Amino acid sequence: MPSNEQILSALEAVVDPEIRRNVVELGMVRSIEVRDGATVDVMISLTTSGCPIRDHFVSAVTEAVSKLAGVTRVNVSFDVLTPQEKQKLQQRLGGTALPDGTLAAVTNVICVGSGKGGVGKSTLTANLAAALAGEGKRVGILDADVWGYSIPRMYGLGATRPPVSSERKILPLEAFGVKVMSIGFFVEEDAAVVWRGPMLHKALTQFLQDVAWGELDYLLVDLPPGTGDVSMTLSQMLPHAKFVIVTTPQDTAQRVARRAAEMAHKVNLEVIGIIENMAGFTTPSGERFAIFGEGGGAALAEELDVPLLGKVPITMPLRAQSDGGEPLVFEDPDDPAAQAIRHAARGLVALTPSALPMLQSVVPEPPALQVIKPSGMSLPMSDASRADGGAAA
Ligand SMILES: Nc1ncnc2c1ncn2[C@@H]1O[C@H](COP(=O)(O)OP(=O)(O)O)[C@@H](O)[C@H]1O
Ligand SMILES: [Mg+2]
Repeated sequence: MPSNEQILSALEAVVDPEIRRNVVELGMVRSIEVRDGATVDVMISLTTSGCPIRDHFVSAVTEAVSKLAGVTRVNVSFDVLTPQEKQKLQQRLGGTALPDGTLAAVTNVICVGSGKGGVGKSTLTANLAAALAGEGKRVGILDADVWGYSIPRMYGLGATRPPVSSERKILPLEAFGVKVMSIGFFVEEDAAVVWRGPMLHKALTQFLQDVAWGELDYLLVDLPPGTGDVSMTLSQMLPHAKFVIVTTPQDTAQRVARRAAEMAHKVNLEVIGIIENMAGFTTPSGERFAIFGEGGGAALAEELDVPLLGKVPITMPLRAQSDGGEPLVFEDPDDPAAQAIRHAARGLVALTPSALPMLQSVVPEPPALQVIKPSGMSLPMSDASRADGGAAA
C-alpha cells in the first residue's frame, strides 16, 4: 500500500479549477486514511459548502489516488475551510493566483480615454471606480497615464510605496474600497517620466502581470491623452478590454474624441459608451451656463451608436475633491457631478457582464519576473519593501 506521503504527492495532480493550483499546495487536503490495506479515504476542504466543483474533486482525487499500486477503492469526502483557514489561504495567494502568466480573474477591463488631456478622464476614472465600489463591486484602477499620472493624488495615496508579497507580487494600494496601481508610487513626487517604447511596454506588462490584483469585477484603466503607445500596448495585452470615451460638449472636442474612437476601433477595442464631462455649470442661484458648449457627447454617442452614459456638470466640489485626495462620490454623493457619475457607473454595470471569468493569456513577452528600473525609479521588489509573508499589510 502507498504511504500517506505517496498519496499526498499523487494528490498534487488534483487542481482546483478556480484557483488553478493543486489542492496540496492550497492546504485543502484535510485528511488521508488507509483502511483494510486497499481503501483510501481522502477528505478535501472546500472554500464554501455549496461548492459546485465537488464532482470535479471526486473524480480527480479518485483518478489520482487509484493510480497508486495496491489501491482498490477511494472515498472522497468534504468539509469546509474555517474562516481563519480561508483567510490564511487568501493571504498566501496574495489575493490572486497567477501561476502561469495569466491575468487574475478580472471580469471587465474598462479603458477610459479621450483624444486630449484635461477633459476629466482621471477625475471620472477615480470617481467611477469609487462609485462602482459603492455598488458592491470589486474594483481596481490601473493608472496607465505614465507621464501625467494623477490617480495617486486623487486617492490621497501620494507618498506610499506598494509592498511586495513573499511571492514577489506587487500589492496594489487600497483606498475607498478600490485597489490602485500607478507609476506615481514608484517615482519621486512630481518627477517626470520620460520613457516610451519598450520601457513603457515593460512597465505596463508588469502592472498587469506582477501586480496581485486578485479577483476584480472591474479594472478601470486611466489612459494618457491621445492615441499612442500605451493604448496600443494595452489593447495587445487586454484584447477584451472595453473603451469609454470622455469628451467635453463642444464640437471641436467631439472631433478630437472621435480620433480616440478610431484608434480604439483600429486596435479592436470595443467602445461601449461616452461620458460627456464639463457639461455646463449651474450657479447657486440656479442659472446655468454652457461654458464648453452643448451636445457634443450626445452627438458622438449617436455617431458611434453607443450609449451616452452620463453628462457630468462642472462643479467646484468635483475639482476640489480631486485635488484633496478623496473622490467626490464618496464625500458628497448628492453633488450634481457625483450624481451624474454614479448614474454613469450604474450604466456601465448594466452594459457589462457581472461574472464572466476572463482568464485571458497576457501576451507578448514571457512572464518572467522582470524588475523595471528606469532611472529615477526605485524598485518595488527589494527585500526592504517586502511585506510580511505575503500578507497585505
Ligand atoms: N466636471 C468637472 N467639474 C469641475 N472640475 C473638473 C471636472 N472634470 C474635471 N475637472 C478638473 O479639470 C482638471 C482636469 O481633469 P483631469 O481629470 O485631470 O483630466 P484628464 O485626466 O483628462 O487630463 C482637474 O483639475 C479636474 O479637477
Ligand atoms: Mg489624467
